[in-house]
This record gives sequence, structure tokens and C-alpha cells, in this order.
Amino acid sequence: MRKPIIAGNWKMNKTISEAKDLVTGVIGKLADKEDVEVVFCPPFTALATVKELIKETPFGLGAQDLYWQEKGAFTGEVSPLMLKDLGCDYVIIGHSERREHFGETDETVNLKIKAALAADLKPIVCVGESLAQREAGETAELIKKQTEAALAGLASEVIAKIVIAYEPIWAIGTGRSATSADANEVIGLIRKTIAALYDQAVADQVRIQYGGSVKPVNVTEYMNQSEIDGALVGGASLEVDSFVKLVEY
Ligand code: PGA
Repeated sequence: MRKPIIAGNWKMNKTISEAKDLVTGVIGKLADKEDVEVVFCPPFTALATVKELIKETPFGLGAQDLYWQEKGAFTGEVSPLMLKDLGCDYVIIGHSERREHFGETDETVNLKIKAALAADLKPIVCVGESLAQREAGETAELIKKQTEAALAGLASEVIAKIVIAYEPIWAIGTGRSATSADANEVIGLIRKTIAALYDQAVADQVRIQYGGSVKPVNVTEYMNQSEIDGALVGGASLEVDSFVKLVEY
């Protein structure tokens, strides 16, 4: 059985005091939630604060990016060891905003996944097609290619530690979400791709989330799909009530 995982990707939002308010509010309402794994992914600047607040709880902590080197002359970057040192459990890798605005490629995504795993951080790896790619009928091919490139060179023993988030780019922050059937189909394809690279038993262990305008009103529909194991949530993770409702789908 794969344990569902709901992660809040705060993106570049929340000062330290705002982070405290949000996390304290969520913990107050969900402290004994054990059937779903809940992960906060605040900006780097709020990681330590959030860690302090969740340390006696089952909530997880994730960063939104990392660099693949352990240390050195890489001004502005944050290493896997630094994130581990802060108490992170997860790290989002290859979000479409990073691919689009910060030059992330399938190759850098692969390097970052390897570096995260080497530091004992669990990657949440994002894949997803643009609207033009969907309309051109390229979704299946692109998702397969992104998944294969992300996992290139990884041994089968580490694959179960990886979470994959299928996030169609046209659905992110737009209010226009993929239908649950479409999301389930693409996620099934990701699982098939993993089964072809490794085997079915490995593929069956990997949790695959849907992301893209997930809200309290549509989360249950996604979670009821056979292939969907959770959600990566942006906008709706920024308010206590909407995030709590999501987790209580
Ligand atoms: P959204 O963002 O929920 O605001 O659409 C999802 C994401 O980018 O992870």
C-alpha cells in the first residue's frame, strides 16, 4: 500500500512570521492525522522555523530546490547537506517554474535527484507538459522522456524513495485543472515507464502525485483515482483552512 502524500509548495511566499502562523494553524487542526503524509515546502528562509514547529509532529519538511554539489564556490546555491542539516526530509526537484525561468533541464534534474538521494533526502520530482505539447498530442511521449531522463543511472533500490509529481504546466496556478481521468491516465503511464525501466514491483512502490490547481473542491476526485497517490499543491496550500480541507479529503 502506498501512503498518500500531500505536499504544500509555498513557492516564493511567506515571511518567517507568516510561515509560523500558517504552520501553527495547520498543526492545531491536523496534529493526529496519520493516514496521510503531509509535507510543508516553504522557501529556504523559513525552513528552520518550520522545522522547529513540526519537530514533535508527524509532518514532513521539504525544500523547493537544491544544487547538486556538496559545497564550494557556487554563490547563491544551497547544497543537499545543508538541507539535511536543517532537518529536511524532502526536496522538490525540476518544478516547471524552475525549468522555465531558471534553465533547469532533464540533465540537471537528474544530477539533483542523485545528489538529494546521496544526502538521504527524498526527491519530489516534477514532470509535465505545456499546453502546446498537450494540444499537439505529445503528452505521453514527453512524460515518458522526462521520467526516463530523471531516473537515468539510478539503482532500483533507491526508486521507492522518489515521489513523482505530474504537473501539467497549463494547470499550474491557472485554476484550470486536468480532469481526474486524464491525470490518472498520465500517472499510469509514468508508472508503466518505471516498470519498463525496473520492474512492476518497483513501480508499484513509487508514489505519484497530481499537481495543478488542486483545491478543496476537486482534491477528492483526484485522490479517488487508482494511480494517484497524492497532490502537490501551490496556491491552496497557503491558507490554513484550504490546506486543512485538502488534507482531510
Ligand atoms: P497550484 O501550483 O496548486 O497553485 O496550481 C501547483 C504547483 O506548482 O506545485
